[in-house]
Amino acid sequence: MAREISTVGVVGFGTMGAGIVEVLARTGLAVRVVDVDAAGLERGLGHLEHSTTRAVRREKLTEDEKTALLGRVTTSLALADLADCDLVVEAVPESIELKAGIFRELDQILKPEAVIASNTSSLSITEIGVHTGRPGKVVGLHFFNPTQVLKLVEVVRTVVTEPDVIADVVAFAERLGKSPVVIGDRAGFIANALLFPYLNHAVKMLESKYATREDLDAAMRYGCGYPMGPLALLDLIGLDTAYEILDTMYHQSRNRLHAPAPLLKQMITAGLLGRKTGRGFYTYDGPDSPTVV
Ligand code: 3HC
Repeated sequence: MAREISTVGVVGFGTMGAGIVEVLARTGLAVRVVDVDAAGLERGLGHLEHSTTRAVRREKLTEDEKTALLGRVTTSLALADLADCDLVVEAVPESIELKAGIFRELDQILKPEAVIASNTSSLSITEIGVHTGRPGKVVGLHFFNPTQVLKLVEVVRTVVTEPDVIADVVAFAERLGKSPVVIGDRAGFIANALLFPYLNHAVKMLESKYATREDLDAAMRYGCGYPMGPLALLDLIGLDTAYEILDTMYHQSRNRLHAPAPLLKQMITAGLLGRKTGRGFYTYDGPDSPTVV
């Protein structure tokens, strides 16, 4: 019989965490969200407020629905407050040590049948899961940015994930209005494994002055129908995140297509991380603003 998932925990209230919390709360679920400090919780609530206000403005939500949605979200600084969750989704920065520590602690706190999922985009779910006493109940649950809009969720199974756990998580993702795909535990899963060599190649083309940023982006938008060109998309993803994903894929595959373009590292060092810092390949007025210069 499928497990009941009614209370869900989210660990990490950054861009992805906030998007996941919004999707869960929109579905009517009670969501408990934990971050490391008060500033983290504040920032996450800010994301949530901004995004739901925008949804009201676009007539996707009424004011009453927004109030009800926000009312389903409770915040805390203690993982112990997730004790009665049926599923916990971890969405903290991409550090294996950080994730392992959280999984170890969650394993002690949660009831034995609860499922622990990671939103990691490139780290090994198997490696994270072995830090728990329940590796059969550990899965990847990888959302895409912007989480509220994009329907894909990658459900990652390891060699020890129990089949009924995968079935329940797939059904759960469908309940969220998402289109889940199931994939084995290899860096990049499906979408990033295909997407990131392409994004990296675009940076290398820019770096060698083969084409301008505008022409590179225009070619893929108008020639291939992509919603954004590769450089604009890198600005949306964040250059630091993109670098980490490529670097992890490169170390696992040794495929030169995954070796991060040197320009990426230089831009990161200079603080040009994309939309979140106001400047990447393009310059932005704010996180949602269209490209300016
Ligand atoms: N939050 C919530 N809603 C948003 C949003 C956001 N950040 N950004 C856009 N939207 C909504 C808008 O409200 C709008 O809704 P409506 O049409 O129903 O009113 C809809 O999305 C379209 O937005 P816009 O009209 O403003 O602009 P676009 O049509 O250009 O769409 C986009 C914007 C959805 C970002 C689109 O350009 C897109 O899909 N780009 C590609 C994004 C992508 O490839 N993401 C994957 C990155 S890889 C990843 O996440 C993996 C990770 O591991 C790194």
